[in-house]
Amino acid sequence: MDSRKFLKCFIVISVIFTCEAKRPNIVFIIADDLGWNDVSFHGSNQILTPNIDSLAYSGVALGRYYSHAICTPSRAALLTGKYSHITGMQGYPLTMSEDRGIPTCVTVLPEYLKKAGYSTNLVGKWHVGSSREDYLPTSRGFDSHFGHRSGYMDYYEYTYEETWSVGKVSGMTLFRNLTAAWDVSGYITDVYTEEATTIIKNHDTSSPLFLLVAHVAPHSGNEGSMLQAPPELVREMRYVESPERRMFAAMMKKLDDSVGDIVQALHNKNMLEDTIIVFVSDNGGMTSGLYKNYASNYPLRGIKMSPFEGGIRVTGLLWAANLNNDNHYWDGYMHVADWLPTLLSAADIPIPKGLDGIDHWRNINSDSASERTTMYEIDDYTGYASMIYGNFKLITGNVIRDFATHQGGNLTGIIGNAPPYEDALLHSTVYNVLESLGRTIGREHISVRKKATIECDQTSTSICFPDDDTVCLYNIKEDPCETTELSAKHPDLVLEMTILLKAEAARRIPRTKPTYRNPLSAPSRFNYTWDVWI
Ligand SMILES: *[C@@H]1O[C@H](CO)[C@@H](O)[C@H](O)[C@H]1NC(C)=O
Ligand SMILES: *[C@@H]1O[C@H](CO)[C@@H](O)[C@H](O)[C@H]1NC(C)=O
Ligand SMILES: *[C@@H]1O[C@H](CO)[C@@H](O)[C@H](O)[C@H]1NC(C)=O
Repeated sequence: MDSRKFLKCFIVISVIFTCEAKRPNIVFIIADDLGWNDVSFHGSNQILTPNIDSLAYSGVALGRYYSHAICTPSRAALLTGKYSHITGMQGYPLTMSEDRGIPTCVTVLPEYLKKAGYSTNLVGKWHVGSSREDYLPTSRGFDSHFGHRSGYMDYYEYTYEETWSVGKVSGMTLFRNLTAAWDVSGYITDVYTEEATTIIKNHDTSSPLFLLVAHVAPHSGNEGSMLQAPPELVREMRYVESPERRMFAAMMKKLDDSVGDIVQALHNKNMLEDTIIVFVSDNGGMTSGLYKNYASNYPLRGIKMSPFEGGIRVTGLLWAANLNNDNHYWDGYMHVADWLPTLLSAADIPIPKGLDGIDHWRNINSDSASERTTMYEIDDYTGYASMIYGNFKLITGNVIRDFATHQGGNLTGIIGNAPPYEDALLHSTVYNVLESLGRTIGREHISVRKKATIECDQTSTSICFPDDDTVCLYNIKEDPCETTELSAKHPDLVLEMTILLKAEAARRIPRTKPTYRNPLSAPSRFNYTWDVWI
């Protein structure tokens, strides 16, 4: 072979080789307790999220994306590709005294990705097991973890508090891999953004990157210091009528800026066009109740910890440079457990058997119908089970009534004029990065925003609450606000769904009772940190 021929052959071989080896980077961003009406691409003129919106307008807004109603279950489903009740992770969120985690025999998303050559990094919340080292992210496929292991924490002190019989018990919950991160200071959303952008900047691009950014925001802080944002930013939100909601708006501004900074960092590193970006909420907003953050799921009914739409139909979007969905909006059902097969599919990694999740990669790309028709929400701790089946949702058992009403409508007040939306969009980091790549967002933003905005009549003289003798049935396509109860009209459907729901509930691993106050886990034993205690 002459040398020219050899060179040509070598180039062809190396191109084939690189093509095969080239998997997309995946940056997955999770907001904590973000409500349906807390992003402006769902229609809010009060909480402006131009960076998040720009990703939706240029990617695909997921109009019927569902999660579990609570954080531990939804994160477990994301990581395993299974409903949380299949791994015993459903119901009431994990306390730090519980010796419980995603069972170590279940393979999780970062493990699949690591095996396929990814560098795997978690910045932020874990909350699916930290009593033993075996449960921690660095034992579960993550090369690195910088973040909190508990459900939430103080935005500046990084402490997490539980109320025990001896009173309040507090400890630091921010760790760098296995070590308490005492060296850190600053507002946590900024701290996590800095960590995430540094990982991107330092990434060795010979391997693909998986970066999971699981923010504290906009979850509440500890009791007594619930909403935390830099004062100068709160002052910028004076147009928001509710003083608490004003703080929430500032927390959201930081979260939206974070998305902008992450996209900018990907662009600076020349990685953006090879990256899939996901932005989701873990469950609905917590408008009222103990850890209320003044989020709003308006006009949807119910909040976090309820199986009504406000608890489970949440913000979701997918962005990738080569998506083929010209509508920028997908109306198909998607569940949090579907990300695992969907992302593996996008990365050309074989999808394991035995998942509850469904791969939607092709259908989102071609704007075809969703293969998902059924979704379950089973919480045997609270005592309800619900199911979506085609256009219908059946809710059985006992829900927490205070969490199952229409809320948040009275938080939308604006004093004077809100900042103009179009200006915010045009000046956002993501809009400008995309424009510099020749991907100018045009009129489609108006049509996507219109499609993604839910309008419905919340007024109803009596709303159905299920209990041991009563079920509630809704047509969630026609009645997304769940006001018109239909069980008497469709007895056969109720029977069919009840049978399916019972069969699904029989598959579950019961949620063990939450334990509090286990002195072995007391932070005072570990230099006032919530460390591994078994
Ligand atoms: C965690 O440990 C890994 C491997 O030892 C290391 O590469 C990484 O930088 C560490 N991560 C953090 C956040 O310290
Ligand atoms: C909003 O309405 C709820 C009842 O749905 C009430 O508890 C709450 O105090 C109201 N908030 C404001 C700011 O008026
Ligand atoms: C114990 O906690 C203090 C902060 O309260 C910290 O400065 C110190 O480094 C910690 N000690 C160890 C051994 O981690």
